[in-house]
Amino acid sequence: MFENKKKSQNIRLRSMKKNEINSVISLVKKLKLPVEHVLEYNNFFIVAEYQNKIIGCGCLTFYDNNIVEIRSIAVKKRFQKRRVGSKIIKKLFEIAKRKNIHTVYTRTSMKTKGFFLKLEFKEMPKNMILRLFDKCKSCEKYVNNKCDSILMDVNLLE
Ligand SMILES: CC(C)(COP(=O)(O)OP(=O)(O)OC[C@H]1O[C@@H](n2cnc3c(N)ncnc32)[C@H](O)[C@@H]1OP(=O)(O)O)[C@@H](O)C(=O)NCCC(=O)NCCS
Repeated sequence: MFENKKKSQNIRLRSMKKNEINSVISLVKKLKLPVEHVLEYNNFFIVAEYQNKIIGCGCLTFYDNNIVEIRSIAVKKRFQKRRVGSKIIKKLFEIAKRKNIHTVYTRTSMKTKGFFLKLEFKEMPKNMILRLFDKCKSCEKYVNNKCDSILMDVNLLE
């Protein structure tokens, strides 16, 4: 863990290398996030590195309908609440802006909604989820009215 604030500035954010996929999968798994999509071609993963170790990750997922979603934001437990998650999100914002993307979405839960609110995300009406994410239509949870995802977006131009 960082002994002081200065050390937390030594975190490096960079693109994930191909040979790091397994480390990212194990990090995401440990934090109980879905892993199936980590290998999808439409993801752009970044990692947070501290003392040559991956301590966090996050990705931008690009869909065919020009929708861009932030997914797989994860920070190793003992590094949480030290702004690593915020740094990852801000780096993803920068990358999205460079690609001329004005809005990014996320599907989160009650547990982490507060984190995204701190990063300027706003909650969207639930019914928008189907308009944006086609796959939700065939999700058992959605069909059975058991979907607990919270849809949020952030405008990067504001
Ligand atoms: C959610 C997560 C990425 C946050 O990372 P982090 O490095 O701990 O977050 P930060 O330190 O950058 O937090 C920024 C702010 O959000 C707050 N925050 C962090 N997690 C929060 C949560 N779960 N609920 C409410 N607020 C939260 C922090 O207290 C901090 O607030 P402050 O500015 O008032 O001090 C991390 O807890 C995690 O990996 N969780 C498990 C995986 C997960 O659920 N990912 C999200 C998938 S949608």
